[in-house]
Amino acid sequence: MRRPRRNRQSAAIRGLAQETHLTPSHLVNPIFLVEGSGIKDEISSLPGSFRLSLDNVFQEIEESMNLGIDSFMMFPKIPEQRKDKTGTYSYDPDNFYLKAATEVKKRFPECALISDVALDPYSVDGHDGIVRNGKILNDETLEVLAKMSVAQAAAGFDILGPSDMMDGRIAAMRQALDANQYTDTSIMSYTAKYASAFYGPFRDALDSAPVEDANIPKDKKTYQMNPANKREALIEAELDTQEGADFLMVKPALNYLDIIHLLKENYELPIAAYHVSGECAMLIAACQNGWLDYSKAMPETLLSIRRAGADVIITYFAKDFARMYKEGLIK
Ligand code: PBG
Repeated sequence: MRRPRRNRQSAAIRGLAQETHLTPSHLVNPIFLVEGSGIKDEISSLPGSFRLSLDNVFQEIEESMNLGIDSFMMFPKIPEQRKDKTGTYSYDPDNFYLKAATEVKKRFPECALISDVALDPYSVDGHDGIVRNGKILNDETLEVLAKMSVAQAAAGFDILGPSDMMDGRIAAMRQALDANQYTDTSIMSYTAKYASAFYGPFRDALDSAPVEDANIPKDKKTYQMNPANKREALIEAELDTQEGADFLMVKPALNYLDIIHLLKENYELPIAAYHVSGECAMLIAACQNGWLDYSKAMPETLLSIRRAGADVIITYFAKDFARMYKEGLIK
């Protein structure tokens, strides 16, 4: 009789039969940067994550690297008075986010530093593109994204992360980067980014939600993907691949494991999954209530994203996972 249980009978045998492994080298730690110093401000809807000033970012990176996490995705919280309709501060040479990137790379040259390319942190309207007459303008936005990309490459970011979902952005960025000799700067494209309800805590962290105004679209559904669609992700992946992306990302992760699997099966580029703020917040809340055990539910969650096909996982749990891994609690 065939008995699959034979392969589960001891920890040693389970280890031999284990199909999927997750290690800290697969993880990216997202960081929220604020201007100033001495700031470590917890995000109320995402306990355990903080808005950090640069001095504390240094500490966060050092701690993470000591735990085996070498990759970081940095997001800026832009002061209201620096926002405008077209996001000009995003490529201002005095931008504190760009300067911070340079400092981080000077101090930690071996880390991989990933940027955010989108207008929403810099936009008075809170959208990823330029808004005019109630519409998000695609091609005008590309010009800003290209300038932002060159500025970020110049600042020292290793990988640029376009999270905006404008059409043609990878080509526009790649062209601008190459024309300015930034041929080694990579692009991790948010390929299949869905118009999801699970970005709430992130928008709280950066104060980047679409503003409430009759002339401003109240959601991002004209550019982020419809959660009902799967085949459309293949169109986005095909375009990003042709246009020169180096990584394809699916976002969110947990509700979209099928999309991660689909892209992994159909494309050769490494697949990243963004385990987004709302997905992390749900688990934290359940654990705080005593309904789930964090030390078990958290690693199982990350492992499932990896099993679906993610080569890279961006998660607010990166450090906690790496700590458990270092202590030998994870195989
Ligand atoms: C915006 C951006 C968002 C996230 C990353 N980049 C939010 C949005 O699209 O509104 C969300 C990440 C998270 O929820 O953890 N360009």
